[in-house]
Amino acid sequence: MNVIDAVKNRRSIRKFKQQPVEREKITEIIDAARYAASGANMQPIKFAVMENCNDVYPCTKWAGYLTDWEPAEDERPMTYIAVLGDTDIKKTFEPDAVAAVTTMMLVAEEMGLATCWLGAIDKKALKELLGTKHEVLYLLAVGYPAQQSRVTDVKDNNIKYFEDENGVINVPKRSLEEVFVK
Ligand SMILES: Cc1cc2nc3c(=O)[nH]c(=O)nc-3n(C[C@H](O)[C@H](O)[C@H](O)COP(=O)(O)O)c2cc1C
Repeated sequence: MNVIDAVKNRRSIRKFKQQPVEREKITEIIDAARYAASGANMQPIKFAVMENCNDVYPCTKWAGYLTDWEPAEDERPMTYIAVLGDTDIKKTFEPDAVAAVTTMMLVAEEMGLATCWLGAIDKKALKELLGTKHEVLYLLAVGYPAQQSRVTDVKDNNIKYFEDENGVINVPKRSLEEVFVK
């Protein structure tokens, strides 16, 4: 898969097969994040794998645009990568964390794995669960997909994704004409 296909094919997936992700794949995904761009090359982002742990899911929120929706118990991710900020190195992490998460999502896509970037998380509870001194920034859910999602056009400025009658998630993306301003 080339990069542009990975970029265009990647969608947030919120239902996962109950099939563990091989540890070598998770390690490779995290290793790739080391190569991401980093402001002043400080590299303050750290990673922790959370798997086979029922305490992570209650710290997450899913698909805000879908009404009363969450993955069923047998659709929930088996693996999460916690994205952490090392406060000994730096106090602000946002651009570096975004570069790292994006890199990991694309590498996972190439491996046939699905991801969902989770920002609506209980950071305090996750920090305690991990027993880490680092700041918890994001979770990346990683697994084998049990859901389809595709891009559609934005109509009437409505950017809310929705599930169609076939259970496919439709994600409206703004057109090239709209985003390419000059
Ligand atoms: C910073 C950030 C935080 C996000 N947090 C959540 C989240 O907590 N729960 C969730 O279900 N999706 C979350 N998402 C996924 C977005 O909803 C998703 O990227 C968006 O709807 C576009 O869909 P796509 O990723 O398939 O292109 C997050 C995405 C980003 C970039």
